Amino acid sequence: MFRPGFHFSVPSNWMNDPNGLVYYEGKYHLFYQHHPYSTDWGTMHWGHAASDDLVHWEDKPIALFPDEHGTIFSGSCVVDWHNSSGFFAEGTHGLVAIFTHNDTYPGSGQPRQRQSLAYSSDKGETWSFYSGNPVLSEPTLIDFRDPKVFWHSPSSHWVMVLAAGDRIQLYRSENLRDWKLASEFGAGEGSHRGVWECPDLFELPVDDGERTKWVLIVSVGGDQDCPEGSHTQYFIGEFDGIRFVNDYSPEHVLRLDQGRDHYAGVTYSDIPDADGRRILIGWMTNLRYAGNTPTGTWRGAMTLPRVLTLVTVEGEIVLKQSPVHELMQLRNGAANWNDITVSAEVPLEVDTETELLELEIEMDISSDQELQVKVQSSQACETIIGYDPGSQRLFIDRTHSGHIDVHPDFAIKHNAPLAPKNGKIKLQLWVDRSAVEVYANDGIVVMTDLIFPISPVNRLWIGTNAGPVLLTSLKLHTLESLRDA
Ligand code: FRU
Repeated sequence: MFRPGFHFSVPSNWMNDPNGLVYYEGKYHLFYQHHPYSTDWGTMHWGHAASDDLVHWEDKPIALFPDEHGTIFSGSCVVDWHNSSGFFAEGTHGLVAIFTHNDTYPGSGQPRQRQSLAYSSDKGETWSFYSGNPVLSEPTLIDFRDPKVFWHSPSSHWVMVLAAGDRIQLYRSENLRDWKLASEFGAGEGSHRGVWECPDLFELPVDDGERTKWVLIVSVGGDQDCPEGSHTQYFIGEFDGIRFVNDYSPEHVLRLDQGRDHYAGVTYSDIPDADGRRILIGWMTNLRYAGNTPTGTWRGAMTLPRVLTLVTVEGEIVLKQSPVHELMQLRNGAANWNDITVSAEVPLEVDTETELLELEIEMDISSDQELQVKVQSSQACETIIGYDPGSQRLFIDRTHSGHIDVHPDFAIKHNAPLAPKNGKIKLQLWVDRSAVEVYANDGIVVMTDLIFPISPVNRLWIGTNAGPVLLTSLKLHTLESLRDA
């Protein structure tokens, strides 16, 4: 039930974080936290899927099973091009997975998390654990996990970012086996409204120019009193191979996705330079109710793959996200409108043949009316995506979206600040069977929310809360379904 038509979802049972995102020999690999025996979180394995285009996914056998060192928590993959690990035949290369082994301390029974390696010489089809596992332990910390590794060419070292208690630790290695602590970041910086998990660190050009900045992504588990539950933040700064230094003040919190349902997002490793994109996939849920979603025999879906870039907005450098262009191949029908005026009394109403939709809207904000896009199904449920020029806020209202009894915090209307650009607001809206993703002003603000309509979406209502608003352009695409509900 509710299986997305074009978002990746687990074939059966439980899935959480994306792991080991790596491009190698023409394939995008997506490993993921997987419990193959239940739709609840449990004994973690690495599930596996692969794709030529980030859109069509082929399900693969489970890649990593628990062993004597514990269950397999989150981590990353790199291509070891020069066989620095020595795992491959001379002169060849292969994939190395760096992940957390989770078990308990003998005696105390306290959780113990240590970092380990596995490698594959056959393009990710089969894996061997390194006999010297674990390669990185720490005697005191309980939360010590989710290694993300990359090659730092200026200093010719592998760098690992790792969630370690209330901070990120950075380690360095020449061979992926021996790791030395280089620095720490994060005590007192950004949001600490929950445990820190799943870091990522990468460099991006600013405004497509010569200048670059480093982006550090950190997911935050969301304490009980944190209204939005789990969420993903990022920092922008400098990294010299040893230390990450935040450009902004420690209190300044930058949110990657302002919806409720983006968590544990990390980016692809080893995308060829000729492509050059930095592509992120996140787990599309909230830790607050990830185990309660009403999806039947499977539980867990990923966000759309998104390209991250850095842009300057009102003097501040921020991340911008856009869904990968490969998704355009899903468009199989279109309707366009130019310069149409809608209001509460005279909305545009469209019966849709499919519940899989992409909508592009350009709104003129001179009339100051609140735009509402109602994604409706015949069973009297609707999700409203809107923009209020008065408060300059983008919002999603899922209070009447269908099955809202997932959790007391599920039925909400929530919003994010969004300033108009040249007197306009641009929205790109993706509707799948159990999710909406909104990219506003070319992805400066993104909101991703799960929804569980009682019957399939079959209608769009586009109007306002009162008087007229001018939509200078409106494009509706129907999208191909890659998987049945
Ligand atoms: C994030 C997380 C990671 C951990 C994994 C375990 O959702 O808690 O920190 O490695 O899930 O499944």
